[in-house]
Amino acid sequence: MMLTEVLLLLILVGLLVNLFSSKNPKGLPPGPREYPVIGSAAIQHLEDARRYRQQYGDIFRTKMGALRIVYLCTPKLIREAFSKPELADRPSKEAFHWMTEGRETGVIMTNGQRWQNARRFLLRNLRDLGMGKSRLDSAIQTEALALVQDFKKHQGVQDKFPNSLNVAVLNIIWQLVANRRYEVDDEEISEFLKLLSSSQEDVAAVFFLPEIFPILKHLPEFLKRRLMAKDKMDAMMKAAKNFMQKFVTSHRENLDPDNPKDLIDEYLVEMDKHTDMAAYFSEEDLMKNIVDLFGAGFDTTSKTLRWLMLYVAAHPEVQTKVQDEIDSVVERGTLPCNTDRPKLPYLEATIHEVLRCCPIAPLGVFHSAATDTELGGYTIPKDAVSVLGRPSLGTNSSFSLQPSSRPSPLPLLLVGKLTSPQERFPSVI
Ligand code: HEM
Repeated sequence: MMLTEVLLLLILVGLLVNLFSSKNPKGLPPGPREYPVIGSAAIQHLEDARRYRQQYGDIFRTKMGALRIVYLCTPKLIREAFSKPELADRPSKEAFHWMTEGRETGVIMTNGQRWQNARRFLLRNLRDLGMGKSRLDSAIQTEALALVQDFKKHQGVQDKFPNSLNVAVLNIIWQLVANRRYEVDDEEISEFLKLLSSSQEDVAAVFFLPEIFPILKHLPEFLKRRLMAKDKMDAMMKAAKNFMQKFVTSHRENLDPDNPKDLIDEYLVEMDKHTDMAAYFSEEDLMKNIVDLFGAGFDTTSKTLRWLMLYVAAHPEVQTKVQDEIDSVVERGTLPCNTDRPKLPYLEATIHEVLRCCPIAPLGVFHSAATDTELGGYTIPKDAVSVLGRPSLGTNSSFSLQPSSRPSPLPLLLVGKLTSPQERFPSVI
């Protein structure tokens, strides 16, 4: 059979299966019209999500092929969803586990005991190694100084944000994970950055298609390779594994169990102690946990820094106030540190304002319903994917470069500090 005939046949079978098998439960949130197989109009840009929110309300649904998606758009709904264990799962999709040929590993997209173990381990050890504490001050100050030096080289030149910004963020995570730092022009770190960005782009694009149209999973192997860029994914998987394996092996060789110096050491020590948990406390999980930490912590933090700079450049009055506050708290010739934080409420409010109105992780990370679950007066059906749309989905709260379309007033900044925990960006780790 020719390629087109195979595809047409598969689409026809898919149409029939979908037509006779899909039933929407009662009480489904409202959303755009749905068609068999293809689902409804997809959300491609934040603008689409904002439009749907205006049309259907704070909780609405779409369907991408077989994937039912429910969007939650207020902090109240998001908090309510977080409080329900039935909505705490992650969707069980092979595509998320591209590094391990579909096997669940790591922390972000896992469930059950594997997730509990990884999350508990990471929370405890990241805190002990200094995340959010003074212990990490000197590593952050080193990166800040390197960043200022590099920015000076770009002074007066109109250009993209320099790569040093990414390297600074990576170095701080790398410090926690593997106790090492890189210079801005280091080739190894450039390769790693390329790997991180290509994994995010490629996984999001073609590799996820069979989860939306499951019938594609039954295509012959040669077709899957061509259509779903499998060769590229395999090469990426190999590169990611080789990169991580190198670090794990050298840590194993130099391990002093009485003196663990970073997250990899801590993991190896615990892993050796808990051989009863070998099924989910393994070197493979360790490598995926590291990739997950970079996946979760790198892009979000470097994007936050870029938006923050753009934001204060667009609001010089905010920039001046932030600078004045820092000057009044941090002595000339010294660098800010973690203990200064409580004395910098305006800076803190500015960061939260940026998280609120700039599109940083705007749709959160997918959750999935373990059973039909009531939320906000609607039913979220079992296996539906819930997207914790940020408040920035609001029509009048998003940052714009056009002064006329900027949100006004800037709620947190008018008060000058956070006045209640509710104003905090609902972060997780
Ligand atoms: C501005 C910076 C950051 C933002 C905006 C951000 C945002 C988020 C969001 C929205 C989630 C998903 C929550 C959920 O749906 O359950 C998440 C999860 C996570 N974040 Fe962050 N994050 C940031 C920085 C970091 C950093 C620096 C790290 C660590 C190095 C990190 C590690 C994680 C991990 C491991 C998870 C998964 C937790 C789990 O599934 O149990 N994040 N983050």
